[in-house]
Amino acid sequence: EKGGYDSFMEKEINDQPQAVGDTLLGRSDIDGRLTLDELRVSPEELKNVNKIMVLACGTSAYAGQVAKYAIEHWCRLPVEVELSHEFRYRDPIVDSNTLVVAISQSGETMDTLMAVRYAKEQGAKILAICNTNGSTIPRESDAVLYTHAGPEIAVASTKAFLAQITAAYLLGLYLAQIRGNKFQGEIKDILADLGKVPEKIQQVLDNSGQIRELAQLMKDTKSVLFLGRHVGFPVAMEGALKLKELAYIHAEGFAAGELKHGPIALIEEGQPVFVVVPSPRGRDSLHAKVVSNIQEIRARGAKTIVIAEEGDDAVKAYAEHIFYVPETPTLLAPLLTTVPLQIFACELATAKGFDVDQPRNLAKSVTVE
Ligand code: M6R
Repeated sequence: EKGGYDSFMEKEINDQPQAVGDTLLGRSDIDGRLTLDELRVSPEELKNVNKIMVLACGTSAYAGQVAKYAIEHWCRLPVEVELSHEFRYRDPIVDSNTLVVAISQSGETMDTLMAVRYAKEQGAKILAICNTNGSTIPRESDAVLYTHAGPEIAVASTKAFLAQITAAYLLGLYLAQIRGNKFQGEIKDILADLGKVPEKIQQVLDNSGQIRELAQLMKDTKSVLFLGRHVGFPVAMEGALKLKELAYIHAEGFAAGELKHGPIALIEEGQPVFVVVPSPRGRDSLHAKVVSNIQEIRARGAKTIVIAEEGDDAVKAYAEHIFYVPETPTLLAPLLTTVPLQIFACELATAKGFDVDQPRNLAKSVTVE
């Protein structure tokens, strides 16, 4: 049932083109109009929403952070993302015009369930993004958008993460469609770009030889840092989490702009740093800013490992190692840039002889508070 792979995790990483493809399937018509009838919340109710609050834990919360960039840009609606266990212990302000989006692969995470119950009591509408049919969180929500990643067995989340991001994009585009924030043509173009993502993920998987080699070489590394900006920031956090969970290596993700505010003090000769570089074709200055961050850490001895877009030659000169992913619009890039980081963590942990499917101290669903 591991489909010829040594671990479920490896299989699930390789299932990702299908997980994203299946999550997109049947959710738009031939004119590129989103048809999320399954939502069970009326367009009128969604039009009245004035704030989105994403609640989740762990990797699912990073999917929420990616979604924030996209939904705010497409819908001009404020989006907050909060860890469920922080949300529920303060006095959060939610009301009947707040749409709470609870993201959970399992649908059983206790803190997220409790946060949902609290928000519901305050009158908020709850929409679950979930991978498990009939689980508790979707049952208690007003609406559900299922991710169709298929069962995720390995404790570390991989394909569910990409499917959650995909579902959140669909939600953002649907909201833009019913609220009239975007022309139908633009929504159609973004959907077409999304439709091309599965084959691009496949290309990343097919070209993973080099990142595997690097992981093997780095198996005795004690600490790895990850930097990203914009949507690359949650990707960096996710890359660090995968390495902690699977390889038990100290790893930290930072927003690249924070470097000067402290973390740059950590950089010493030979410190490995992954940098998620935005597309040079994207918003002005984003790419240049990250390139200058790479120069800063390199000048202090960092060993820079760069994830960049194909054709980005400018960054080559500053990268000790460079891994290219296919071109895609900036907001969609996390569906590609995450993949080499997952492969790196899985391969390094395997090289250390660890069980990647069942990392120590972790459970697949955290049903205790
Ligand atoms: O089932 P959920 O999506 O609610 O789970 C949330 C987290 O427990 C989960 O993402 C966790 O962080 C994984 N171990 C990440 O690989």
